[in-house]
Amino acid sequence: MRLDIITIFPEYFDVLDISLLGKARRAGLLDVHVHDLREWTHDRHRTVDDTPYGGGPGMVMKPEPWGEALDTLVPPQDADRPDPREPGSAHEPRPSGAAPSGKDSMAGDGATADAPPPDTAAAAASGSADSPGSPAGTSPPSQEAEASPSARVPRLIIPTPSGRPFTQADAVRYAAEPWLMFACGRYEGIDSRVAEEARTRMPVDEVSLGDFVLAGGEVAVLVMVEAIGRLLPGVLGNADSIADDSFAPGAMESLLEGPVYTKPPVWRGRAVPDVLLSGHHGAIARWRRDEALRRTARTRPELLKRLSPEKLDDRDRAV
Ligand code: ADE
Repeated sequence: MRLDIITIFPEYFDVLDISLLGKARRAGLLDVHVHDLREWTHDRHRTVDDTPYGGGPGMVMKPEPWGEALDTLVPPQDADRPDPREPGSAHEPRPSGAAPSGKDSMAGDGATADAPPPDTAAAAASGSADSPGSPAGTSPPSQEAEASPSARVPRLIIPTPSGRPFTQADAVRYAAEPWLMFACGRYEGIDSRVAEEARTRMPVDEVSLGDFVLAGGEVAVLVMVEAIGRLLPGVLGNADSIADDSFAPGAMESLLEGPVYTKPPVWRGRAVPDVLLSGHHGAIARWRRDEALRRTARTRPELLKRLSPEKLDDRDRAV
């Protein structure tokens, strides 16, 4: 999967070099490109914000740098055609081997009007699957993405407290896409025309991480990238653990995961529940479900209403 992240704080994404996602990048499972929005400004101060029309506090991100960034990374000549993912649209995929941006070979030119920005150190150090000879971070989406018509344009994800809630179901859906692009807003947000115009040439989702306000989209993107990245085939050591996740689609859908334990069997006088040591898989599964139901009822009772009655057995109802 290819990820492009546009931000005024590329350093935020240095952490994508470590832990699970760092490993996934080095294994070529995740191809991350971080872009500094200021590379698409043309004034001495590299201005990305301005005062809001209509008055009010704070600043709004100017549309021009965003427009140029998106044009560079998703060239309009490709993007103007209808999105292949929309039902009823017929078009040919880009010939394999073609880069998503015809200007990519100019990466590294610096902050000129037309050149895409050089990718950040985070991307360059990623060990991503750039083809030999191409500048770091300028490779097209992965082979798999190229082979798929849906790789022609990315899905653009814009984190904002005004978006619809991001859920595990979104993470699952996004993990199946070959190319995602994230736009990190700051201040009071990005001029609304940016999403509006982008929507004419690529799918755009405005999503919120919850009913609170962050200082910008960077942390929200890190959260989403981790939620998505861990679902990619080969990223987690034990793929079965995904099925046990809270909110995971399937048997445990709409349930929070219950308590977990490891050795020693007794710690500070507290024993691990006997059933977990019994080796009786049926009894263990039942106990886990009971605990998940209890925990959900206690901390997120509204989630229980989402459980469809046919997914509940008599024992569930008794818990
Ligand atoms: N940016 C600022 N606040 C946010 C939130 N709650 N979710 C997503 N992006 C944000």
